Amino acid sequence: MNNESDFKNPYMKKVKYIFVVLLAGIGLLTAPSCNKDTYFIPPPPHTPQPTSTLEVMKVSTPPSTLNSAYWKTADYHNVNVSDVSTSHLYTDGLLNMTGTYSGKTSFNAGVNPGLKLKAAYDNDNVYILAEWTDSDVNLSEKSWLWNGPTDLLKADLANGWTSQRNSDRMSLAFEIQSASNSLGTFSSVGCSASCHGTGNSAEMRPDAGKVDLWNWSLAKSAPLGYAEDMVADATGLSDDTGQQICVRNSVSVSDRSGPAYEWDGTSQTVTLSTGTASILDPAYYLFNKTPFLGDVVRGDSIYHSEVLNQPGHCISCHGELGVGGTASSLNVLSFNKKSRASLISSMDNESDMGPYWNALNQQSRDDLIAYIRGLCGVPGYYLSTPDGSNADLTAISNVTPINIGNAMVPSTNIHTVYKVLIIRKLETTHADDVQFDLSSNKIYKFGIALMDNDGKNHIGSVVETLTFK
Ligand code: HEC
Repeated sequence: MNNESDFKNPYMKKVKYIFVVLLAGIGLLTAPSCNKDTYFIPPPPHTPQPTSTLEVMKVSTPPSTLNSAYWKTADYHNVNVSDVSTSHLYTDGLLNMTGTYSGKTSFNAGVNPGLKLKAAYDNDNVYILAEWTDSDVNLSEKSWLWNGPTDLLKADLANGWTSQRNSDRMSLAFEIQSASNSLGTFSSVGCSASCHGTGNSAEMRPDAGKVDLWNWSLAKSAPLGYAEDMVADATGLSDDTGQQICVRNSVSVSDRSGPAYEWDGTSQTVTLSTGTASILDPAYYLFNKTPFLGDVVRGDSIYHSEVLNQPGHCISCHGELGVGGTASSLNVLSFNKKSRASLISSMDNESDMGPYWNALNQQSRDDLIAYIRGLCGVPGYYLSTPDGSNADLTAISNVTPINIGNAMVPSTNIHTVYKVLIIRKLETTHADDVQFDLSSNKIYKFGIALMDNDGKNHIGSVVETLTFK
């Protein structure tokens, strides 16, 4: 008989049990007298646990940064994302803006984003931290491209100005006033209650009531440290009151009308919502602006002029549409980091370009730079520091708007996991906001959406619960 079979014998099992209990008893009796210190060892730190709703714990130290100690031990809520809005295309002139077209299978090439939420509150504010995986950073929205790429999903022609590129976003929706539509009420179907229409005409507006939208967008709000604060009611979706954070940079309402403004060449120093100073990258963001200069049609024609060794004829070395020639590509976003003056001086100093560039007058140079800007993409919005109810939502993330990198401009900010912290007062004095009045209610329904290079199609969860503890 070996030891193993000993323990299979019921009698031996009982003996072993008594022996273990005795040993444990002796241990308990003797431990305090042997080593009194063990009594004062503090409990081990809380190990984060998943929770079934998003629990908002009361804290005394505000967890106001991504690195605050609270987030390291806080419980978390895993959000099971599903397709919320799919197969939508934008209207005429808006191309290649639907990176989440097929929902989960498109979002980050089908990788589950693993959306995780944590939350806390103190006497003044609620803090919501969202983390999800998306391995490329999309930071533009409706950039102006001249003769840009076509969109395989759309029949639109890409000739002339079109609006292209989109941003990554995370949006939260809360009910302000009993919102509903034919699908149900906000408390039963969440943000589906504010889904109106189908197909390309789908809009974010309930039939009745009011919904608060917290829209973190890498193109329009994150660079200044905010989430866009919006409200959806039966009339449609609009910004809250106060100075708007972003305005469409276009000559007219048409998404083919071209940019009204461009960067004025001065350093875009801004103060973020947190009070910290930052500099916005002109490759993506327009803050210090001046009217867009030059005639792009004329610039296009000088670029393509056919007479060898005569002014123009840029195509011979830089290729059709600024790519594929013997000289460097001109359609790269990094050219937007150069002011007009610095672009002109680098061309002045390029000896190979002498016969093609030197004899051009100022007007032709302006027109050519308008054309080069159109190859790189002019930002589709210009930003302003918001105020009033538009400034209610402070947002901090692990993306900085300085020297942004992506596949085209490798530098900083290449990452896989977004971390976005949104901070808002529990109660604001604005009628266009949800109010967290904890004396009357501690449970709030909300919806959450994630978008990868998109603003129409999203994945997420339409009804979640925020439970203040
Ligand atoms: C004979 C060939 C040739 C022609 C024609 C030519 N370029 Fe260039 N260009 C170059 C070379 C070479 C450079 C240096 C970078 C490189 O090696 O590709 C350059 C650089 C540039 C740059 C980059 C400046 C910077 O900041 O780095 C711009 C912009 C530019 N060219 C615009 C033009 C325009 C506009 C025209 C037409 C007026 C033109 N080029 C015609 C050869 C040419």
